[in-house]
Amino acid sequence: MTTVRLNSADPVSFDTDALIVGFHPGAEGPRPVAEGLDAAFGGKLAASLTAVGFTGKAGELAKIPAFGAITAPLLVAIGLGEDPGAEALRRAAGAAVRSLAGTTRAALALGGEPEAVALGGLLGAYSFARYRTDGEQKNPVAELTVLAAETAGAAERAGVLAESVTLVRDLVNTPPSDLFPARFAEIAEEEGGKAGLNVEVLDEVQLKNGGFGGLVAVGQGSVNPPRLVRLSYSHADATKTLAYVGKGITFDTGGLNLKPSASMDWMKSDMGGAGAVLGALLGIAKLGLKVNAVGYLCLAENMPSGTAQRPSDIIHSYSGKTVEVLDTDAEGRLVLMDGIARAAEDEPDVIVDVATLTGAQIVALGWRTAGVMANDDDLRELVVDVAGSVGEGAWGMPLPEELRKGLDSPIADIANLQPERWGSMLAAGIFLKEFVPDGVKWAHVDMAGPAFNKGEPHGYTPKGGTGAITRTLIGLAERHASA
Ligand code: BES
Ligand code: MN
Ligand code: ZN
Repeated sequence: MTTVRLNSADPVSFDTDALIVGFHPGAEGPRPVAEGLDAAFGGKLAASLTAVGFTGKAGELAKIPAFGAITAPLLVAIGLGEDPGAEALRRAAGAAVRSLAGTTRAALALGGEPEAVALGGLLGAYSFARYRTDGEQKNPVAELTVLAAETAGAAERAGVLAESVTLVRDLVNTPPSDLFPARFAEIAEEEGGKAGLNVEVLDEVQLKNGGFGGLVAVGQGSVNPPRLVRLSYSHADATKTLAYVGKGITFDTGGLNLKPSASMDWMKSDMGGAGAVLGALLGIAKLGLKVNAVGYLCLAENMPSGTAQRPSDIIHSYSGKTVEVLDTDAEGRLVLMDGIARAAEDEPDVIVDVATLTGAQIVALGWRTAGVMANDDDLRELVVDVAGSVGEGAWGMPLPEELRKGLDSPIADIANLQPERWGSMLAAGIFLKEFVPDGVKWAHVDMAGPAFNKGEPHGYTPKGGTGAITRTLIGLAERHASA
């Protein structure tokens, strides 16, 4: 993985393969963040950049050969806009570092918070080359230096956050032939063990005996049986306990209610919620946050077969409630209902579940904004606020009570599907709410869109797995940490 360090050296004379410099737009052309840079270029930098169409607006990037004006052979100008916040810095750093794949060393002079620059750079340096044998994929930048005054812990924190997000991206990108529930559980054991987490895994027999009817039903159509992973972290000074529950469908064919081809090929990403929960627990442990945290990974593969659950089957969920399965493609809520009910037994202060739950989330909010629902207004607003502060898109959504009757079943306690498609993201939230015991604060994050980038890379976000919501969960733990 790419390394990052801070250095207060002068960008003009710093020895590196590429110098990335942030620019603001100005009346006389783009203005560099790094002092002395324009002088090094003989006062011609603004005019040269203007000549190639670079103004300093956020999102712009221009590469200029240095012709010996500075020590680095290449200058990468990156636009920061007028008054960049932390997210603008992360995106600028990420886009610049991504554009330098194939280069060994790069240094960033962007001004602002060094941690944001370091994190953006590390996240932009992502690549997933494990399955390539043709050598066509260039290596990401190996060594990053943020040219800024030493800030205690900034590089280390950025490193921990990037490590978590990178693991989640790798898990999402791994094909389902190599990432099935038992393998995911093994990775959780390996990584959790290294980070000092306590890890327990329930296999299919233990799930059956334990009454986890939802996980068993969703997993029963696959030759790769389901798992429930429990990760826990505690701190002696903690006063709060958080429980995170992640949807971990390692592949979602829809089951007997089979998905059409165009909706299925990217369903390896349907474990993004469980990925985010694993990444978050690892990050919380590595940062040593003063909080207690438990994470549940609800792992199953949703396949059609002679042993698959049928539409009209009735499940005995872990909570004791019975559920009529009207559509086997609404499987996420069936594994989460067991995970949420199990998490409540830990008596946490809050439960947050994270799931690629509904296509309706993408209809409502698009690819980059997760929907946040909760049974508590303050918790919902907190989750949205934390997501915003770490630069992850999220927006509060309601749980209208009148949608509950659409989930009535004539013969079971509840059905897993409402008959109409309108408001499906909210109906899924209403379904999950039924499995949260009274008095327990709970929030639900639907990130069907944000978990996987089907489009082109942007900012620090690559194509494919994004690692979305991982940093929100870590940030939420920070807000609950003791002083
Ligand atoms: N995993 C899907 C949701 C999804 C869709 C995630 C697109 C990422 C991108 C989920 O299990 C699903 O199939 N949901 C159905 C629910 C419906 C049957 C009520 C949906 O959204 O169509
Ligand atoms: Mn589905
Ligand atoms: Zn699914």
